[in-house]
Amino acid sequence: MVVFSFSLILLLVVGTVFADDHLKTESDLRRELFGNYDKLVRPVRSIEETISVRVTLAPLRVKDVDVKDKTVKLDTWLYLRWEDAYLRWDPSEYGGLDQLSISANEVWRPDVALYTASPDTSLFPTVLTNVVIFHNGTVVWVPPFSFKSRCPPAEGQVTADTFQCTLKVGSWTYDVRRVIVQEHEQDVLQGMGRESFKDTDEKWSLESMVSHSEQKLYSCCPERYSLVNFDLLFRKKAHSDE
Ligand SMILES: *[C@@H]1O[C@H](CO)[C@@H](O)[C@H](O)[C@H]1NC(C)=O
Repeated sequence: MVVFSFSLILLLVVGTVFADDHLKTESDLRRELFGNYDKLVRPVRSIEETISVRVTLAPLRVKDVDVKDKTVKLDTWLYLRWEDAYLRWDPSEYGGLDQLSISANEVWRPDVALYTASPDTSLFPTVLTNVVIFHNGTVVWVPPFSFKSRCPPAEGQVTADTFQCTLKVGSWTYDVRRVIVQEHEQDVLQGMGRESFKDTDEKWSLESMVSHSEQKLYSCCPERYSLVNFDLLFRKKAHSDE
């Protein structure tokens, strides 16, 4: 009898440890990650660390090019990827669970804005699609982003059948000590745009889209800010007569 109850206890103890080891679920993971998570602060271990954000604007379609007004209307996906030091876990503790899809509202996000947005559209994406968090702390967020934007061409960049101009994207409030934005890929139409873009506009085709980052000093503030430029080249379609 003693032996019997001893083995029973042993079984219970071992069973509990075993269960603890193997029954960690997605809910457990969410509790462990977000129990003390503060989405209002930059997710870095030390205040001196800079968060590097990879950015691209994957074009879906051209809705308008207004040469006179120097504005363009585009449907895009804004692609953002960064590292969050507090969203990391060991997949082997969670039955191999190596990524989470959760509301963008629950995590810190860089306030990446379209600097050149027209006053009548939002500077920021307004649809908060889910983010994907990988177990190594990489966060990817790809909200749809439709906008009208100023797109002033540089001197000599407008010909009878082409229009060339630049969109600017960057963090609205974080200077280069806090957040740096960098292009995800240089030739967007050969990268993400290859699958996303449909050349459906009657008048204009988007012939190239090249991204490159820069750092800029503004008169408002002592520190530099980083930006990703998207150089667009539109070509008038042959049968168009505007
Ligand atoms: C984290 O994992 C993802 C998915 O496997 C990968 O794409 C990403 O590059 C990794 N991030 C780092 C910082 O290694």
